Amino acid sequence: MSDTTGRTALITGISGQDGSYLAELLLAKGYQVHGIVRHTSSLIANTSRLDMIYQDPHETERRLFLHKGDVTDAGLLVNLIRDIRPDEIYNLAAQSHVRVSFDLPDYTANVTALGAIRLLEAVRASGIEARIYQASTSEMFGTAAPPQHESTAFHPRSPYGVAKLFAHWATVNYRESYGMFAASGIAFNHESPRRGETFVTRKITRAAARIAAGLEKKVYLGNLDAVRDWGYAPEYTEAMWRMLQHDEPVDYVIATGRAATVRDFAEAAFAHAGLDWRDHVEHDDRYERPAEVPELVGDPAKIEREIGWKARVHWDELARIMVDADRNALRIGP
Ligand code: NAP
Ligand code: GDD
Repeated sequence: MSDTTGRTALITGISGQDGSYLAELLLAKGYQVHGIVRHTSSLIANTSRLDMIYQDPHETERRLFLHKGDVTDAGLLVNLIRDIRPDEIYNLAAQSHVRVSFDLPDYTANVTALGAIRLLEAVRASGIEARIYQASTSEMFGTAAPPQHESTAFHPRSPYGVAKLFAHWATVNYRESYGMFAASGIAFNHESPRRGETFVTRKITRAAARIAAGLEKKVYLGNLDAVRDWGYAPEYTEAMWRMLQHDEPVDYVIATGRAATVRDFAEAAFAHAGLDWRDHVEHDDRYERPAEVPELVGDPAKIEREIGWKARVHWDELARIMVDADRNALRIGP
């Protein structure tokens, strides 16, 4: 791989699970890293995942820069890109919760779909030749039969999936129309101890840890039959970076190729905490979706062959990693 020292990257969604791991990876590679963080009424509420790498703005040698902003603000994006002149841009910002997208479809489309085209247009308007990574998703496949690969027909099943499909095609279209280096990573579910607490894996591992510690007795879940191909988030951010180092802008499925049901994941997580999941998991209709994506299992052959990226952590080890982290956090305290 080429020398990356002195390169500049811009990450939208830097405060999220993937954004925080990607920022760490790029800083370790010598990049100057800029990230967009949303305004909140409290000072640091949404940057807790960046605590490990935060640098005081008064430090002269710092390489991490956080900018207040939002992907719903087109002017901000143009100005920021003109000022920073990034070599690489990673568009990770999204309203990323599938269930929430049914409640907030308009908002989800504005951020997740239009946010992407605003960013592409901002790069075009600024005249800068930045390489762009778009965070596409297996959710775009919806009901398509597994294993899903780059040529599988899309059939999204949620406002989030529909919004991401718009962003995906916008990325392809800007590449084809303007010759931009814009590539889409069609990532399957990836998790970590930094996963948001309302996504099913983290909800389960956090509950297992709290129940084992005697703090709670039950956790309420929706569809236990859903099948997901769960990988480990830090490995997926490595794939994103590698895609932008490739000779050509190419779209890739990013997946482990192995999958399990929500029930399997719960069983493994609770067992690792010394518990029987059947004693603690209850059903609640509230967590069912108006339309479900039944089975996502990715075929990662293309990215393995062309980029040399291969998932190492699979869902069962992931469950153990996340339970251990949630149990440790309880011992250490908030
Ligand atoms: P995440 O933890 O939900 O992070 C989303 C990030 O987007 C957060 O930093 C959030 O800021 C930011 N954001 C939300 N609305 C914004 C807005 N209007 N303007 C600017 N920033 C905004 O998601 P993730 O798991 O890291 O995923 C990263 C990306 O990959 C997302 O686009 C997601 O849809 C996509 N993806 C994820 C997976 C997965 O399994 N994790 C799979 C496929 C694709 P706050 O911190 O302020 O909320
Ligand atoms: N969140 C949640 N909460 N999901 C539940 C629950 C529950 O209590 N009970 C069952 N599930 C089922 C959902 O119905 C879904 O089939 C599966 O667990 C996974 O749900 P999530 O963890 O919310 O993830 P997702 O697959 O809907 O979406 C995630 O992965 C996508 C990639 O396929 C998100 O990270 C998306 O942003 C991402 O694009």
